[in-house]
Amino acid sequence: MSESKGMSAPADFEPRIVAIFCNWCTYTASDLAGTSRLTYAPNVRIVRVMCSGRVDPQFVLTALREGADGVLIGGCHPNDCHYQEGNYKALRRVTLLHRLLEQFGIEKERVRLEWISASEGDRVQKVVNEMTEQIRRLGPLRLEPLEAREAHAAGGGDEARSPAEPAAIGTGGAA
Ligand code: FES
Repeated sequence: MSESKGMSAPADFEPRIVAIFCNWCTYTASDLAGTSRLTYAPNVRIVRVMCSGRVDPQFVLTALREGADGVLIGGCHPNDCHYQEGNYKALRRVTLLHRLLEQFGIEKERVRLEWISASEGDRVQKVVNEMTEQIRRLGPLRLEPLEAREAHAAGGGDEARSPAEPAAIGTGGAA
């Protein structure tokens, strides 16, 4: 379970957000925001993929496990996907991811899907700023290490917890 709920964020907390943007629309829009000199929160690290349908849920879980406080996925508007229906796949995956995150005790607002076309640089600015503020309010994502989860399951206490250890989320390689 996430330890973030109910804990106040440190005053100097700066959210780390991984933004996974579709090459054809949202990534181009982020470029447009830059060339239009629209400034937005520097808390995002943008990863370009060819389509939002390329975003495997494991990418999101890995980002959260490795230290991101939130993940923003940007894709083409419905019916504008260059690969026909990749964005619909993304929508279905994010819906499932939200359910999964809630089961882990992680706020679903930490993962956000937005449709942003290539001409909407101003929308990139708005969404990034909004999400940064939202994650700032939620505070850092503190994930319970896998060992602590196993200790709890086995009837152990909090003493097995070590914040420096990898988090108990995802299926691939958490050790
Ligand atoms: S090509 Fe942009 S979401 Fe599929």
